[in-house]
Amino acid sequence: MSGQNPAASRKTWNNRWTFMLAAAGSAIGLGNIWKFPYIAGQYGGGAFVMVYLLCIALVGVPLLMAETAIGRSTRLSPLNAMRKLTSDAGVFRGWEVIGWMGMLTGFIILTFYSVVAGWALSYAWDLLTGVFTGMNADQVGGEFEALTASAPRQILWHTLFMAITVFITARGVHKGLEKGLQVMMPTLFVLLFVMLGYSMLATGEFMRGFHFMFDVDFSKITGEAVVAAMGQAFFTLSLGMCALMAYGAYMPANNSIPRTALNVAFLDTLMAIISGLIVFPIVYAHGLEPSAGPGLLFVSLTSAFANMTGGAILGFMFFALVGIAALSSAISLIEPSLAWVTERFGINRVLATCMIGGAIWLVGLGSVFSFNIWADVKFFDKTIFDLAGYMTDVFLLPLGGALTAIFAGWMLKRSVMSNELAMSVGMFNVWRFAIRIIVPAAVALILYTALK
Ligand code: PFF
Ligand code: NA
Repeated sequence: MSGQNPAASRKTWNNRWTFMLAAAGSAIGLGNIWKFPYIAGQYGGGAFVMVYLLCIALVGVPLLMAETAIGRSTRLSPLNAMRKLTSDAGVFRGWEVIGWMGMLTGFIILTFYSVVAGWALSYAWDLLTGVFTGMNADQVGGEFEALTASAPRQILWHTLFMAITVFITARGVHKGLEKGLQVMMPTLFVLLFVMLGYSMLATGEFMRGFHFMFDVDFSKITGEAVVAAMGQAFFTLSLGMCALMAYGAYMPANNSIPRTALNVAFLDTLMAIISGLIVFPIVYAHGLEPSAGPGLLFVSLTSAFANMTGGAILGFMFFALVGIAALSSAISLIEPSLAWVTERFGINRVLATCMIGGAIWLVGLGSVFSFNIWADVKFFDKTIFDLAGYMTDVFLLPLGGALTAIFAGWMLKRSVMSNELAMSVGMFNVWRFAIRIIVPAAVALILYTALK
């Protein structure tokens, strides 16, 4: 195991809230605010939301605990954590593929994540400078088409987002993250509540949006919807790619992993539900379609901001905060590869971040071009942007998650996990049942459905 730091040299975050903040920062992002409403809209609302919530509770929470515990038990980067645990347990070394897959998955996700985060930055700027003021929903929709049709405009914002990500990441997870997030996350929270108030009081369509999200039409629970809901559960909780393993390595030993995992899952779910309750009433009020696709958040909210007193400044703040929420997620998408590259090659963090960030930026251009010059370039009938999302949601994250669960549940000695999780025997057995049986079975089911 060359180039591996001894565990003792790893510092932990000294504040017991820091892990919570970092994990919530990783979890809460575009997945909640942009992706959840648009996928829920595409799959018809309530039925999708119900399956999604089940996935969060039955698959997401147990796995969140497992990943964090693996990271904390070794205090190493995900790949080296997997190496150490496989050799300690005396099992097949091939399990370290979990670490490799995690790095690859984070890389692929960030290539398109950054493009969408770039849209948010672009909207923040355009709202502030009054581009949208007074526009109707059609015109706002036209602007979204114009942005995605323009490669140069998207490249500008994608570049800016990656540059900020690299800059912050290079400064180190501890220093870079904590101060900023302590202020930004609560502010985002407040702003979401302001918008929720708007949807409730000013759209006249709140109940319609509410029913869309919570009325379950069982005929809509198709195989495809279940696959999408499960993929979204992994994506939104940052599971299946070792991100929380990387953060768990810094978690103080006396923090409770189960409690933290529940808090993170709860906050993330709350943010997604609130986003839906903001978006759908506005969608109805402006005669838009819930199934509009990736532009849903941008077009609906901007239509509201365009016609609201103070909308320019509120809209600017909203999309700027969405960009910041995306930033804290982006940092966690790079972290597994970065931690490994610095441990393995001993090169300095700044250089390593620039190299990895540069490569992600470059591949991200493929996502930018998916909406314009390469719109016809398709693999398996999907543009590069769609393919990156599909591959990670449907295959890489669930597979990574299932392997992690099987590893934690079947390969590791019971005591390794029970020491970290520090639960009562009864609760630990419930967790263990979920991680040994439910998580792998659920993933097997969706892979079967997706491939058949
Ligand atoms: N959970 C993030 C979101 O909901 O926006 C996206 C994400 C971050 C996925 C980190 C995976 C990850 F490792
Ligand atoms: Na999320």
